[in-house]
Amino acid sequence: MQQQPLLWLVTLLPHAIQALPFALSPTTWSVREIPTSQRAAREAARVAVQYLNYYSGSPHQLVYLDVVRKATVKSIPEIGDKFYIEFTTKDYQTNQEARVCTASVFFRQKQAKPAIHINCTTSGSLTKARENDYNFYRQMKKQVTPISGKDIPDSFGFIEPDMLPVWYLAIMGSSFVVWEKTTEERSYTMAQIKTVQQLPRKDDSIAFDYDILLHELPTEEMIYCSLHIVWIPGKPPKVDYECSHNAENGSGTESEEGSTFFGNFK
Ligand SMILES: *[C@@H]1O[C@H](CO)[C@@H](O)[C@H](O)[C@H]1NC(C)=O
Ligand SMILES: *[C@@H]1O[C@H](CO)[C@@H](O)[C@H](O)[C@H]1NC(C)=O
Repeated sequence: MQQQPLLWLVTLLPHAIQALPFALSPTTWSVREIPTSQRAAREAARVAVQYLNYYSGSPHQLVYLDVVRKATVKSIPEIGDKFYIEFTTKDYQTNQEARVCTASVFFRQKQAKPAIHINCTTSGSLTKARENDYNFYRQMKKQVTPISGKDIPDSFGFIEPDMLPVWYLAIMGSSFVVWEKTTEERSYTMAQIKTVQQLPRKDDSIAFDYDILLHELPTEEMIYCSLHIVWIPGKPPKVDYECSHNAENGSGTESEEGSTFFGNFK
């Protein structure tokens, strides 16, 4: 009986093994159902949705978390918490119920970038979304003057209809950043595009440089990030980014450890 779970740990967590207390037996791992209203349950579902928005590679298919229906957590001492959640999402553009999803979200202790597996029912508006993606892509490809913009949404919460796809693309790309930064204690939401600039490309892709603000919870801090996003319809975006705490206090940009760009270009 003892062999199986330990093998599982060996496969999944090669570098965490040293943290495993010598006498730990699988029976000490508690698996419990938690109230769906609990912050931890919603936060686990939220990061799963953000991962889905990044991974779908479709800016016109973004969804947000609606209702958490069921949540279970398995706590493994010294290693982390694995959440199993069932939830529904709504479509970003229509606010219609979109999908029913199940996900596992594994937060390793004190580490960002939870391991996520997610399955969802397909959405009825998939074809329309793909079509809108492609129209936006074609329009950007034939742009004579690269588009640019700032403060999206503006201080009244308004977004020019022309700029909506540029906003969606930023949400899709920043969802990658958010996923990489999220821990069990900290979550992020994109708040605003400060500036956006399209970059001409000779290949099949379209590219944009964004400066954005992420809202961090529970600290309520604003994180300022520079993103370079390269995208082809139907594929997850390529994202390079650099973030620094505090854009608003005007105390300059204090880069995070290393201060180099992170991303998925490699
Ligand atoms: C997703 O679906 C696969 C295949 O049906 C299943 O093996 C896996 O456990 C599911 N994952 C989640 C998180 O629901
Ligand atoms: C920025 O301001 C917030 C709120 O006043 C404060 O909590 C935070 O520590 C400040 N950040 C920096 C880097 O000064």
